[in-house]
Amino acid sequence: MPLPHLTRRHFLRNTALIGAATALSARSWGQVVGANGDIRVAVVGLNGRGKNHLASLAKLSGVRVVALCGADTAVLAKVKPTVNGGNVKTYTDIRELLAAPDIDAITIATPNHWHSLMGIWALQAGKDIYIEKPVSHNVWEGRQLVAAAQKTGRVAQAGTQIRSGAGLREAVAWTQAGNLGKITAARGFCYKRRDSIGKTSAPTPVPATINYDLWSGPAELVQPHRNSKKNGPVHYDWHWIYLYGNGDVGNQGIHQMDVARWFLGEPGLPRHTLSIGGRLGYSDDGDTPNTQVVIHDYATAPLIFEVRGLPSKAGAGTPAGAGSEAGSAKTSGMDNYRGVDVGNVIDCEGGSIVTNGYFAATAYDKAGKFVKEFKGGDRHMQNFIDTVRSRKTAGLYGPIEEGHVSSALCHLGNISHQVGHAAPPGEISAKIKADAPLAEAYGRMAEHLAANHVDFAETPMTLGLPLTVDAAHERFTGDSAAPANAMLKRAYRAGFIVPQLA
Ligand SMILES: NC(=O)c1ccc[n+]([C@@H]2O[C@H](COP(=O)([O-])OP(=O)(O)OC[C@H]3O[C@@H](n4cnc5c(N)ncnc54)[C@H](O)[C@@H]3O)[C@@H](O)[C@H]2O)c1
Repeated sequence: MPLPHLTRRHFLRNTALIGAATALSARSWGQVVGANGDIRVAVVGLNGRGKNHLASLAKLSGVRVVALCGADTAVLAKVKPTVNGGNVKTYTDIRELLAAPDIDAITIATPNHWHSLMGIWALQAGKDIYIEKPVSHNVWEGRQLVAAAQKTGRVAQAGTQIRSGAGLREAVAWTQAGNLGKITAARGFCYKRRDSIGKTSAPTPVPATINYDLWSGPAELVQPHRNSKKNGPVHYDWHWIYLYGNGDVGNQGIHQMDVARWFLGEPGLPRHTLSIGGRLGYSDDGDTPNTQVVIHDYATAPLIFEVRGLPSKAGAGTPAGAGSEAGSAKTSGMDNYRGVDVGNVIDCEGGSIVTNGYFAATAYDKAGKFVKEFKGGDRHMQNFIDTVRSRKTAGLYGPIEEGHVSSALCHLGNISHQVGHAAPPGEISAKIKADAPLAEAYGRMAEHLAANHVDFAETPMTLGLPLTVDAAHERFTGDSAAPANAMLKRAYRAGFIVPQLA
C-alpha cells in the first residue's frame, strides 16, 4: 500500500510521539520486530558503500532488507532488482521511510553532510542505526547525534568496521597491557592515490534522476561545480568539497585516525591540534587537502596522521579509483612508511605494532624482530544486528561516542587547515622545528612533494592555525579561537536543521 505523503509537521509530530515511546524494554521491543522474528532493515544511500551494506546484510540470518532509500532514482532502479528479487519498498525521502512502522533498523551510507541529521531523525523515529563514518560533518552535530542515542536508548553503531576485527581488538588490549612498554607515538597513514577531479568553468546541470534538494539536505543549496568523468556532477567527488565532505582525513583517514586513538586509549579530544598541508600539485574543483599532516597532542603520546594523494614521485603508479576504500587499500606507486601505505604504526618504548590491511596487525620488538601476529575479520554488521536483537548496547564494537570523537579528530585537523594561512615551506619548517615528531613527519612530506615537483607558487601549502582544545566542552580556547570555534557547526538549511540535544 503506498504511504500517504507526509508533511514535515506530520513527521515531527510522529517522531515526537515515537521518541517518547522509545525507552522500550527488550521484551516490548521484541514485539515490534517482523512477525517471523526477522530484523527489518532499510538501507539509505546506495551508490557505493550502501551496496556493501546490502552485501553484508545478505550474509546474515534473521535479517530482511525491506526498504531502500536514495536521492537518485537511477541508482534506486539499478539496485532494487538485486534485493529480494525486487520485492523491496523504495523511498527517496527518508522522512517518509522513517514514518513506516514496518522498519526496525536503518543503515546510512549517504554523503557525510547528511549523517548526523539522518541518524538523529531515525533514532527519534524509534529506529536503530548503523551510520557510516565519519558519523558527522562537523564536531557539534556529532555530539548531538551521541545525545540522541543516549536519550532514545536505541542502538547506534558507527561504521568504523575495523573495530570489530578480533585481531585488532586483541592487538589493542595486548598493547595497552604494556607488552611493548608505553606508546610513544600513534601514527595513522592514508597514502592513497587521489587524482584531480578536473576543473569546470561553470556550474553543472543536475541529472533529472537526482532529487537535488534532498541530496543537498542540511548543506547550502548550490548548483554543483564539478563533473569528473568517473563520477559526474553529484556523486562521490563531494568527498573533496568541504560543503559536503571532509577530505581524505575524513574519508579513508577516519578509519586509521580511529585506530590510532583506540590504541592510545584516549576517550576524548586532544589538548592541541595543528595541520599542515594543501591541495597540491593540481588545481581542480576540490577544496580539501590531498596532502596533509595533522598532529593531535594527547597526554599519552602524540597522534600523528598523514595524508598523501600524490604518488611517490611524478609519473609513478596508477590511480586508486573512486570508492576503493572499502576493500584492500593497497595502491600502486604510493609511498609507504615502514611498509604501510594505508594503516597504522604504533610506536612503543619496546617495539611497534604495524597494521596489515584492516583486520590484522604484527608486533615487532625494538630491533624489528617479529614478536606476535593478530588476525581477524569484519564482524561489524553482524555485531550491529546482534545488538539490535539483544538490546545490550555495551556490546557494540563501534559505539557512536567513539565514532563521534574520532570523526571530530578529522574535523579539528580540517579546521586548523581552513583557518590557517599560505606559507612557504621554509617558513613552515622554521615554525615547527621545536616539535620533533611533527618536524620529522613534515620533513618526509616535503621530500615527497619535491619528488612530485610541486610548485608552491601554483598550489600553496597551508600552515594551519595551532589550536588549543577544551576537550571537555569540545571547543577551542585562547586568543585566536573565535574563527575556529565558528567552524565547529555549520549553518543548516531550513527544513534540515540538526536539533540541539546535548
Ligand atoms: N566504512 C567504509 O569502509 C566505507 C567505504 C566507502 C564509503 N564509506 C562511507 O559511505 C558513505 C557513502 O559513500 P559513497 O562513496 O557510497 O558515496 P556516493 O556519493 O557514491 O553515494 C551516496 C549515495 O547516497 C545518496 N543520497 C544522497 N542524499 C541522500 C538522501 N537525502 N537520501 C537518500 N540517499 C541519499 C546518493 O544519491 C548516492 O546514491 C560516505 O559517508 C563514506 O564515507 C564508508
